[in-house]
Amino acid sequence: MNNPTPDAIQRLNHLVAIVREHNDRYHRQDDPTISDHEYDSLFQELLELETRFPHLVDPHSPTRRVGARPLAEFANLTHKQPMLSLSNRFSPEDVTTFDRQVREGLEVTEIIDYYAEPKLDGLAINLTYINGILTSAATRGDGQVGEDVTLQIRTIPILPLKLSGKDHPHTVEIRAETFIPLAAFAKMNAQLQKQGEKTLVNPRNAAAGAIRQLDPRITARRPLTLFCYGLGWVEGWSLPTTQEAIIQQLQQWGLPTCPEGGVVPGVDGCLDFFSRLGERRHTLPYEIDGVVYKVNRVDWQKTLGFRHRDPRWATAHKFPAVEVATLVEAIDIQVGRTGALTPVARLQPVHVGGVEVTNATLHNFEEMARKDIRPGDRVLIRRAGDVIPEVVRRLPEAIIENRPPPMVCPSQCPVCGSAVIKPDGETVARCSGGLSCFAQRRETIKHFASRRAMNIDGMGDKICTLLLQSGLVTTVADLYSLQHQREKLMGLERLGEKSVDNLLEAIDNSRKRSLEYFLFALGIRDVGERTAVSLARHFGTMAAIMASSQETLQEVPDVGPVVAHKVCEFFASPQNREMIKHLLAVADTHWATAAQSTAIPHNRPLAGQTWVITGTLTAMTRDQAKSRLESLGAKVTATVSKKTTRLLAGENPGSKWQTAKNLGIMIVNEKEFMESLAHE
Ligand code: IVH
Repeated sequence: MNNPTPDAIQRLNHLVAIVREHNDRYHRQDDPTISDHEYDSLFQELLELETRFPHLVDPHSPTRRVGARPLAEFANLTHKQPMLSLSNRFSPEDVTTFDRQVREGLEVTEIIDYYAEPKLDGLAINLTYINGILTSAATRGDGQVGEDVTLQIRTIPILPLKLSGKDHPHTVEIRAETFIPLAAFAKMNAQLQKQGEKTLVNPRNAAAGAIRQLDPRITARRPLTLFCYGLGWVEGWSLPTTQEAIIQQLQQWGLPTCPEGGVVPGVDGCLDFFSRLGERRHTLPYEIDGVVYKVNRVDWQKTLGFRHRDPRWATAHKFPAVEVATLVEAIDIQVGRTGALTPVARLQPVHVGGVEVTNATLHNFEEMARKDIRPGDRVLIRRAGDVIPEVVRRLPEAIIENRPPPMVCPSQCPVCGSAVIKPDGETVARCSGGLSCFAQRRETIKHFASRRAMNIDGMGDKICTLLLQSGLVTTVADLYSLQHQREKLMGLERLGEKSVDNLLEAIDNSRKRSLEYFLFALGIRDVGERTAVSLARHFGTMAAIMASSQETLQEVPDVGPVVAHKVCEFFASPQNREMIKHLLAVADTHWATAAQSTAIPHNRPLAGQTWVITGTLTAMTRDQAKSRLESLGAKVTATVSKKTTRLLAGENPGSKWQTAKNLGIMIVNEKEFMESLAHE
């Protein structure tokens, strides 16, 4: 290995410091003092020196943000303190009620100070810093357990990997919202369009898509940023006494915060803040969907506590949904996975809250009749946040001549011609064709492959339609023999060699999904993701679920008599049992059993390794070290044996250390461990 000269060492350290400083100036202070070109050459020089002298690399060097390899899937991470949601308020009266409930809860009559700030329309992230070092980042997930997106979040340039200053809590969870600013979003879409690719619907979806990239190198190319707005679990630190001071503390640590926040007095202060921000809303460089009010005093926040999953000390005051007028060009009928017929209005394209809308749902035929919407009508469209745009009402002043007659629910499915049935008392009409209906089959396959189910990337509308039309796929089970049909796949219109390989790889990867995803993927009526997880956790295996009665099913949290009935009915069907048997045969044993609480996917950096932890750790607890190791793919066991890959030894390690030494097992101390974490 090259020996660095003292000059090289000095230059390298200097470069780390100045690149970091210019990063900060550019991303956080918005005040760059050098050109992009000069920055790039400094960065490049640093990278070259680090490549020549790898042992000198500072684990927190600005070049270390982007991980080098894609993940097979996201691991789970448990939040030390649950991530909560906020109750929503829509009117000044609602806010007055909130303020009254706060004062009643505190048994005070005085005017309460609130910290008011925008409700950012992005993706909630939990950042964990241990002794000032970013050790993990997770999505909100179900509030208790999120997905480990550490590698993805590390690529966000504005986020410090190391907190500024010297005084840090031992462990601190920082709550943040990550998002893509509007200008960057517009630029991104313009580029996608230029490349002839599909544009993204809105900045929020774009941000979620960027974070959910298994390959962090792709995330790094997306213009993500974030604002930190609060704390979760804090250990070894005394909390500031107000929300305002928490924000100041976050800023002192070098974390980005929203510049629009401030303390306001009482309900009047809140409403004034709301209307002033509302006026400026569309001039802000990012999307917001309301204002969050938080009781400023932290001791009062503690007194007030929570109700279900919402804090009593905070609430979200939402801006009204955006409504815009346009023309209904036609009304189509969509047939969903469960056969539900949904009338959809095809619209003259309009921009609603920054997004181009071309379709809006009319929900069902009863609703369409009630609103009396027909082709050619002018209508009001509403888009609220992430919700599918809907037709609110017809604009009566614009009734056209020769208005066509109202469209009624067809008696035959527009796709397969089967009878449409609408049981008494239900509003939804359904095609009775089941899986013989092309639309239901396609939607079933799309659902099975969807991200939250088997996560088979690339199985959108077009590919599913092609696969079904070509006869290569009839049921989901056929996906798993497609690898023998490579030639035929490549013969399909629009499918090149690369896309075929990607598709086959994505299908192959899905064999490693566990029971909870598989259950959800089956598309059992009323079994959403949450119920699927509860069932998998409770029963542990597919065989146990299939053998359970309605009574035993109801012992599962979230499962009532209706869901229990649906589950039993699904598994009683011989076709379904046959399909499951067929599917399980192609997936080794993965789908038949629930994942451990922490998923241990195969190609994570430490996959296949077995670690033992011994002695006292100072930077984190043993449990934290264990969950971190597990999230990187390692197995953590209690005793040292020949199978042990590594021993993590804290202070006073005792006999395990000796055993490891005798067996020649590699021992790492805590400092080395922390450094290697910073690289992962
Ligand atoms: S505070 C206990 N502040 O809104 C406090 N949340 O509905 C919980 N959000 O998942 C959250 N901007 O992603 C808070 N300034 C803000 C926020 C904010 C956006 C999101 C956050 C959370 C959701 C809660």
